Amino acid sequence: MRYKEYLRNELDKNNPDNLPLPKGYHLIGHVALLVLNFEDRDFATKVGKCTLGYDSRIRSVAIRTGPTSSDIRKPVYELIAGQSDTLTTHIENNVKFRIDPLRVTFSGGNRRERISLPQFVQSHEYVVDMFACVGQFGLHIAKTAGAKVLAIEMNPEAYSLLEENIRINHVENKMQAVFGDCRKVHPNGVADRIIMGYLPGTIDFLPSALDTLSQEGGTIHIHDSLPENEIGDYCNTINTLASEWGFASVVLPRKIKHYSPGISHYVFDVSVLPNEASEA
Ligand SMILES: C[S@@+](CC[C@H](N)C(=O)[O-])C[C@H]1O[C@@H](n2cnc3c(N)ncnc32)[C@H](O)[C@@H]1O
Repeated sequence: MRYKEYLRNELDKNNPDNLPLPKGYHLIGHVALLVLNFEDRDFATKVGKCTLGYDSRIRSVAIRTGPTSSDIRKPVYELIAGQSDTLTTHIENNVKFRIDPLRVTFSGGNRRERISLPQFVQSHEYVVDMFACVGQFGLHIAKTAGAKVLAIEMNPEAYSLLEENIRINHVENKMQAVFGDCRKVHPNGVADRIIMGYLPGTIDFLPSALDTLSQEGGTIHIHDSLPENEIGDYCNTINTLASEWGFASVVLPRKIKHYSPGISHYVFDVSVLPNEASEA
């Protein structure tokens, strides 16, 4: 039985105000995350308890109570049912993630991108993940593509999980974690590929990515959120910055998901070459 139908069967008699039931949940390990479109906390608790009975994998249920905030992208959730220990192990395409989804973001909408990116990565590449978090992109690349990954993260909580995830996925010989602000701790002139999985305002970090890129060029994946009619200007800004750094660039934007009213999450795949190579 579908989740919404199950909730309707279980809760309709307790829902005299006809509050809107959630259509689904995002399951991370044993934690189900819900977005509710009503304020009534008593009814929210009933939805939470009911959700525990729907899927045997679910042991904790939390609701979103505010927007993701600050530069460390801290999620705002509140536990409404089940066990309070929300540190969990989430498995995605054979990659294990230790994560507490109430404390660190793990986007459901990026799943396809996380899983498909390694197929474009060669095993000889050196990849720098500038906003690694618990290793969402880097672990898939190190494990599936077998490339070397340098993963930079500045939130101590996410960093400690990143180190644990490198260990439990046995990729210590492929992947190294670096703690700090990627603008300060990035290496220079080494990367064949750079992942910039952070938004909004990612373009501000492009100078650091261009410093990190090999002089022979490579690929940069820039994630950002913007209205569709600003895509052209955004691509122009990327090309201008790349040329100031002595590179020629070709930018291919792709939509990842709807982000907020009028705004979508895009990834800009940027192929970068040294200027003289593009002129030859
Ligand atoms: C929203 S999470 C995204 C995780 C993953 N890259 C993804 O796209 O799914 C962004 C991460 O970047 C980290 N971060 C933000 N600014 C940073 C900076 N200047 N240097 C290093 N890490 C940073 C945050 O702490 C957070 O863990």
